[in-house]
Order: sequence, then structure tokens, then C-alpha cells
Amino acid sequence: MQSTACLAVLLGLVCFVASAGNENARLLASKTILNNFLVEGKDLTVEYNIYNVGGSAAISVQLADASFPETDFEVVRGNTNVKWARIAPGSNVSHIVVLRPLKSGYFNFTSADISYVASEQSEEPQMAYTSSPGEGGIMNYKDYDRKFSPHVLDWAAFGVMTLPSLGIPFLLWYSSKSKYEQIKTKSG
Ligand SMILES: *[C@@H]1O[C@H](CO)[C@@H](O)[C@H](O)[C@H]1NC(C)=O
Ligand SMILES: *[C@@H]1O[C@H](CO)[C@@H](O)[C@H](O)[C@H]1NC(C)=O
Repeated sequence: MQSTACLAVLLGLVCFVASAGNENARLLASKTILNNFLVEGKDLTVEYNIYNVGGSAAISVQLADASFPETDFEVVRGNTNVKWARIAPGSNVSHIVVLRPLKSGYFNFTSADISYVASEQSEEPQMAYTSSPGEGGIMNYKDYDRKFSPHVLDWAAFGVMTLPSLGIPFLLWYSSKSKYEQIKTKSG
């Protein structure tokens, strides 16, 4: 018990010393598309993660993603403009937005903008940017439906289930056949 307390005190000191070196907040942010397939008319989930890797809290943090034009995307859930009053040093926040692509074709997913105040003493907002997911192809709904319709998935599951019942007898047959051939060549 005592040693854990000491460790906690020690870690506290280490953290204190480490944070004294860099007094300002510093934000690193990622923007990730969580879907494997991007399909016209189907939900597309975007996740934003913001990490404060600096030594003090980031204040008035604002994430604004203006990279989804209304003509190309409909917001289904969440907001592309979000605020946090404070992000403590060493902590992170995440935010999710669900969108529906209205068109198929290639789309360049670019970064979102972040503004924040980097220390209690400062008032000047700083800018930061999330990572950019890059270019992605949004599949036409008809193509998607043809390739991944429930009917095709049923059939695929059926194929997987029938594989052992066809495969195992084949393996048994194959191994007994090769044994038989070995015996034949030895005796012959
Ligand atoms: C982000 O914060 C959560 C708690 O809010 C924590 O469990 C998680 O480990 C953090 N992730 C990273 C990569 O620091
Ligand atoms: C996507 O947009 C970024 C930022 O505007 C740009 O640098 C990049 O060249 C674009 N990529 C493509 C493939 O157009």
C-alpha cells in the first residue's frame, strides 16, 4: 500500500516536472472514416479524435469541418461544428458524425479545422488541423446492391458452411488414394 502511494507521489512529481517544461496546450487531431465501403445513400461514419499532448489545458476548442458540401452529403447524426470548453493536458476527446453521401464517384476527404486557446494567460486563438483521410471512391448504390445484396451474402455463407462437408470427404479420399498408390508401387 505504502509503495503504491510513493509511486503515485513519484509519478505526480514526474508529471509535474514534465508539464513544467511545456506550459502551452498542443493539440494533435485525427479524422478517420470508419466504413470499409463508401456507398451512395448509405451511412458513412466520420470519427474525430483530439489529443492534448501539451502541458496545459486547451481552452475554447472548436472543431469545424467544412469539407462536406451540402450538395454531396447529408448530415444524418452529429454536427460538423462542435465545441469543448476545455481539454485537459494528456487527455483526449472524440466526436462522431454520420453522413450520407448523395452522389457516387471519387471524393477527396480533406482535413477539418480546429481553433483553441493554448494557455490560461493567452487569449489569442491558435489554429490546428486534423489529418486528412484522403481520396475515397463512393460506390454507386446499384453496384453495391448487386455485389453485396443479402442474397449474395446468404449464398456466401452457404458456401462456407458446405465447404467442410465437401472438403473433409475429399481429403479422406485423397489421403487413402495416395496411401493405396504407395502400397501399390512398393509391392509392384
Ligand atoms: C483517450 O481518453 C480515454 C478516456 O477518456 C482513455 O481511456 C484513452 O486511453 C485515451 N486514448 C489515448 C490514445 O490516449
Ligand atoms: C486532396 O486535397 C488536398 C488538400 O486540398 C490536396 O493537397 C490533394 O492534392 C487532393 N488530392 C487529390 C487526389 O486531389
